Amino acid sequence: MPESAARRRTRFIDAAIEEYSAGHSTGPDVHQSTLQAVTRERTGRAAGMQIGDDQAVLMEMIVRAMGAKSAVEVGTFTGYSALAIARGLGPEGRLLCCDVSEEWTSIARDAWEEAGVEGRIELRIGPGLETLRALEPVEQFDFAFIDADKESYPRYYDEILPRLRSGGFLLLDNMLQGGRVIDPSATDESVVAIRSMNDTIKQDSRVAVVLLPIGDGVSFVQKL
Ligand SMILES: C[S@@+](CC[C@H](N)C(=O)[O-])C[C@H]1O[C@@H](n2cnc3c(N)ncnc32)[C@H](O)[C@@H]1O
Repeated sequence: MPESAARRRTRFIDAAIEEYSAGHSTGPDVHQSTLQAVTRERTGRAAGMQIGDDQAVLMEMIVRAMGAKSAVEVGTFTGYSALAIARGLGPEGRLLCCDVSEEWTSIARDAWEEAGVEGRIELRIGPGLETLRALEPVEQFDFAFIDADKESYPRYYDEILPRLRSGGFLLLDNMLQGGRVIDPSATDESVVAIRSMNDTIKQDSRVAVVLLPIGDGVSFVQKL
């Protein structure tokens, strides 16, 4: 399989259009490419959990454009999305990363150090919900990214939204579940939770949302 096909991240956009778009977008730099290669080598098929290059660049640009200084991520894996957020935050920014895996996040730690962003990131190992619930009530974020266990998305949303500043962004990954959200025969726990999350966000008067068909579907939620 050619590298471009192996890196396909969406089934919702025509392959040739996706390739053309990728060819006219900022690509990964040496730190990001190295992290992708190391992740493939050390995690095998799990490497497919990394967000795509387009999403990483978009997240970095949004975080930078917002002038965000504080961010939280639930679901860090080997650190690719966190690297994008940390770069957008700049040297004064702080990113709290939540994950349950010491093994996968050890790859992240090395990559962050390589890229010189390790001082901006605090990694807490443990169930994301426990980490969020243990935060000081005053802790507020400009930007948040949810990309962990799908069944817990509604609870992550409930914990994070009150901590998001007005005008802040919350991005949620895998919101189309490979298209299964519109397949009535798909009733597994992840799809049911994501459908419910999509309905909840759409009806939430505290936010504006756009669900974009990049990657596996990314919801861009802005707190009003
Ligand atoms: C899809 S991957 C994240 C990919 C990452 N955002 C990236 O772009 O490389 C999901 C991650 O969620 C973590 N995870 C699963 N259940 C979790 C939980 N209850 N709390 C925190 N993290 C969890 C997994 O260990 C895994 O690293």
